Amino acid sequence: MEKPFSPACERNKHPILNILKETILPTDRRLLEIGSGTGQHAVYFAPYFPQLEWFPTDLRPNLAGMKMWFDEARISTIQKPTKLDVSQDDFPKLKFDVVFTANTFHIMHWKDCKSFMKLLGHRLREGSRAIIYGPFKYNGDFTSPSNADFDLELKSKDPLSGIRAFEDVNNNMIKNGFELIQDFEMPSHNKLLVYSRLKFVK
Ligand SMILES: C[S@@+](CC[C@H](N)C(=O)[O-])C[C@H]1O[C@@H](n2cnc3c(N)ncnc32)[C@H](O)[C@@H]1O
Repeated sequence: MEKPFSPACERNKHPILNILKETILPTDRRLLEIGSGTGQHAVYFAPYFPQLEWFPTDLRPNLAGMKMWFDEARISTIQKPTKLDVSQDDFPKLKFDVVFTANTFHIMHWKDCKSFMKLLGHRLREGSRAIIYGPFKYNGDFTSPSNADFDLELKSKDPLSGIRAFEDVNNNMIKNGFELIQDFEMPSHNKLLVYSRLKFVK
């Protein structure tokens, strides 16, 4: 098997890192990544946050590829990649300070996005952050013609995928106990949404 490679990850890793540096705290101990893909983000980001154990996850078919990146990089804080399908699996039974996900909401079906946000609400405690990177629509409009084309391309491959409305994501996050801390403009018409878990009510 050839080591997988994502050109998009190489393009977006620097701007994402700049925001992670503002958002991840020195007191944070564990980060769960959903939809880690090739594992390139974990390999690039983890060394900048040596206080953090980084837990990469994805659907089972992606685990072998990311393991190739992790075996090569030998970064002690990156944990063994595990299968986590937000439509059927729970988070590992650990306290996570941060959940990070990049370019997953437009791939996952909307019902799975909602399951994911529900899991975030169930499993994160007050002050923990959820960081969501990717393209979103605002007030029904794509943020660029290229994103409108990308949405059509996604839907031609899978009609249930597609660029999500920020308002739908935001309403679901609020419903699940989060407040939006920041909505960063990113290169190539992407966004990075930072949410904080409000007080946990059982
Ligand atoms: C476009 S890739 C992004 C990968 C990586 N985060 C990146 O930025 O390059 C979308 C990822 O979401 C994952 N994914 C899709 N459905 C999922 C689900 N139900 N649960 C968890 N991950 C899922 C895919 O396997 C894939 O790795």
